[in-house]
Amino acid sequence: MAKLRAALIGTGLIVGNHMQALAHEAGRVELVAAVDTNPATLKDFGKQHQVTNLYTDNRAMLAEQRPDLVIIGTPPATHRALCIEALEAGADVLCEKPIAASLRELDDIQAVERHTGRTCTSVFQWRYGSGGAHVRRLMASGVLGRPLVGVCHTLWYRDMAYYSVPWRGKWRTEIGGTSMGHGIHAMDFLLWLMGDWVEVQAMLGTLDHDIEVEDVSLALVRFASGAMGSIVNSAVSPRQTSYIRLDFQRATIELEHLYHYRNDHWRFSIPEGAAYTDELAAWSALGTDVEAHQTAQLTAVLDSLERGERPLTSGAELRRTMEFMTSLYKAAFTRQPVLRGTIGPDDPFYTSMNGVV
Ligand SMILES: NC(=O)c1ccc[n+]([C@@H]2O[C@H](COP(=O)([O-])OP(=O)(O)OC[C@H]3O[C@@H](n4cnc5c(N)ncnc54)[C@H](O)[C@@H]3O)[C@@H](O)[C@H]2O)c1
Repeated sequence: MAKLRAALIGTGLIVGNHMQALAHEAGRVELVAAVDTNPATLKDFGKQHQVTNLYTDNRAMLAEQRPDLVIIGTPPATHRALCIEALEAGADVLCEKPIAASLRELDDIQAVERHTGRTCTSVFQWRYGSGGAHVRRLMASGVLGRPLVGVCHTLWYRDMAYYSVPWRGKWRTEIGGTSMGHGIHAMDFLLWLMGDWVEVQAMLGTLDHDIEVEDVSLALVRFASGAMGSIVNSAVSPRQTSYIRLDFQRATIELEHLYHYRNDHWRFSIPEGAAYTDELAAWSALGTDVEAHQTAQLTAVLDSLERGERPLTSGAELRRTMEFMTSLYKAAFTRQPVLRGTIGPDDPFYTSMNGVV
């Protein structure tokens, strides 16, 4: 089979993860071009990775290179236009989070997916580690009983140097704060594991940075199954950790790591004194260790495209998470619980996360 021709748009900090992924998949995909509006960044990237087709204009790249796959790693406010241009040029797209600034922007992208027949997938690398897949398998088998409680903490630390990058810290360019920029990975993961969400309540605070967006958020979520979840997102937590805890009827599953979990970051517990040998045996079959990294996601996306299937973190599955993010912000700003399915095109939060910009 001919290799897919890939192009990268955005050659800043996150591009290293995508280069690692492309190197891992070199048998199926080749990098044919890179784009960045900053010529100095682009030149350094080209030199470091021996990429010669370098463009500062995305449209010129699409017209000349006709890539099959476009990987986008630019700041959030640029994603809608870049995703749509790539889809219109006939490429499938893998775009960094947050894929869009609002449900309106996501709906625009998904309308273009429908008329081009191409797909636009959000980077959510946590869904692609072996541990996540294992938990999903155990849940489907029913061996753990029903999920009852979810705990989801993204407790990270970011100093003002981090927010000195011009696009960060502002509603118009970063789209949201630590919920959108950091906690989105863990929240997407929680929502994937716990099933459909139906209601969210939330609070936001900007506690220790001179920025517009929040550096702390707390949320409560109710799932369609009746299960409940508690979420904390923070950019002000000196001992950093990413923590997910799922309490099932017969077992507790925990994940504690920072950015890219592996099998040994998971922990499994049963009630003290319980003789749950089936549950313990099921958990111990965790299998080959796959790191939750852009590499694992690219592999899964290529597999899906080869099979002619929609990649996992696209389409309705992606909208479910973005609707949750939007509802979290709306619940916090309005100080009211938000029910799933209630943010329509006439709602100010349909067009922005703070209901204003
Ligand atoms: N998945 C993850 O774990 C993860 C981690 C970090 C960042 N990210 C996401 O990756 C994206 C980029 O973050 P970063 O830290 O690499 O930012 P960055 O500022 O380091 O790099 C962004 C690059 O995009 C370029 N750029 C800006 N507008 C452009 C345009 N219209 N066309 C082409 N190039 C353009 C900039 O010149 C810059 O070189 C963000 O959406 C961020 O949320 C994801």
